[in-house]
Amino acid sequence: MKDKIGIGLLGLGTVGSGVIDILRRNGELIKRRVGVPVEVIKILRKDSNKPVPADMPRNIITTDIKEIIDNPDIDIVVEVMGGFEPAKGYILNAIENGKNVVTANKALLAINGEELYSAASERGVDLYFEGSVCGGIPVIKALREGLAANKIESIYGIVNGTSNFIITKMTHEGKGFGDALRETQALGYAEADPTFDIEGIDAAHKLSILVNIAFGTPVDFKEIYTEGISGISPMDINYAKEFNFRVKLLAISKMKNGSVEARVHPTLVPCSHLIATVDGVFNAVYITGDAVGPTLFYGKGAGDLPTGSAVVSDIIDVARNILKGGNGRIPPASFREENRIPLKILNIDDIVSMYYFRFTVLDMPGVLSRISGILGEHKISIASVIQKGRQEGGNVPLVMMTHEAVERNVKNALLEIDRLTVVSEKTVMIRVEEGK
Ligand code: HSE
Repeated sequence: MKDKIGIGLLGLGTVGSGVIDILRRNGELIKRRVGVPVEVIKILRKDSNKPVPADMPRNIITTDIKEIIDNPDIDIVVEVMGGFEPAKGYILNAIENGKNVVTANKALLAINGEELYSAASERGVDLYFEGSVCGGIPVIKALREGLAANKIESIYGIVNGTSNFIITKMTHEGKGFGDALRETQALGYAEADPTFDIEGIDAAHKLSILVNIAFGTPVDFKEIYTEGISGISPMDINYAKEFNFRVKLLAISKMKNGSVEARVHPTLVPCSHLIATVDGVFNAVYITGDAVGPTLFYGKGAGDLPTGSAVVSDIIDVARNILKGGNGRIPPASFREENRIPLKILNIDDIVSMYYFRFTVLDMPGVLSRISGILGEHKISIASVIQKGRQEGGNVPLVMMTHEAVERNVKNALLEIDRLTVVSEKTVMIRVEEGK
């Protein structure tokens, strides 16, 4: 029996520091759970002159990846450096060398996951990545293990804390977009490039990972329709409230007749839905399985300790496997490699959804009937309408909710409507979900 589990840590940024902190503060507890101590043997940093974590010897830091990958005392390589290269090369080398890998690298998994999953499966090592989606929320483990009995029917996720924080501030405090973004950056939640948060790319990375393991299909990241929150105005947030809806940036995936919907966009959800109540930097994922029904996973989706919690929990899982000879027992992508089936990802134009429209129109008789006429011709049925203000001969917002319609029809109708002389601005369209 091994007398300890050795860790090689790649990167010592926010998450790496959280990992060190947790391994220290909960070292005894972790030892009781694993059976032997878990010890950081080497830490890879770009610059060896940077400060060493307190109480650690200076020679724990290395700038040479070989000292980790070729080190027989290291059982698990923990990649928390982020980015594509050299992270990807390091992970592949580690796998080739028979090391188990834990990573929190969502962008890498979203784009190059297939290569990494098959490398780990072929080599029979563990590749765990709980920290890559929703920080401390154990949603990967839930999909891979806790819900493994189910056909997953749908996933609705608030998976980006930065955009949720911004929308929350705009909804409840009437704050401007810029102020709210600065606040979340100060809290350390935003990505180095916050356009990843605001434009939905970070959420799409996470959705790609979830879809892959939920449905057992490779996902081409480019096929995930992605729209961020930069076009959301306080006006739309307020009109949504009048209809009893909240605006949220949702990552949505549904299984539809053998095809998969996978999309990230601002969405109106009923105020009564649990996901509508998830505010601030918190994340939540609402997953429905055919046997279990709806489930909700909620918690902190970023930060040193929440993400560190996910990474260290993965380390514990892998350590337990090492000690019992169980590495490779759980396939990285949840389904066994040979049983994964590529599924069609539906084009956004083919989805069926309800819609919120805000038209900016001249306030004069007959405008509503012209708009509703065009909508009718495109098989779009109106559920409710409100007109705000009265500006005879001037512009007013005309706000509408529809029943279910095909997105392609909606786009064609809006093209026609926006060409009308009585319509003075591009129409705002936001998809609406009941979240069932
Ligand atoms: N920028 C991400 C967020 C961090 O705001 O949720 C965690 O992935």
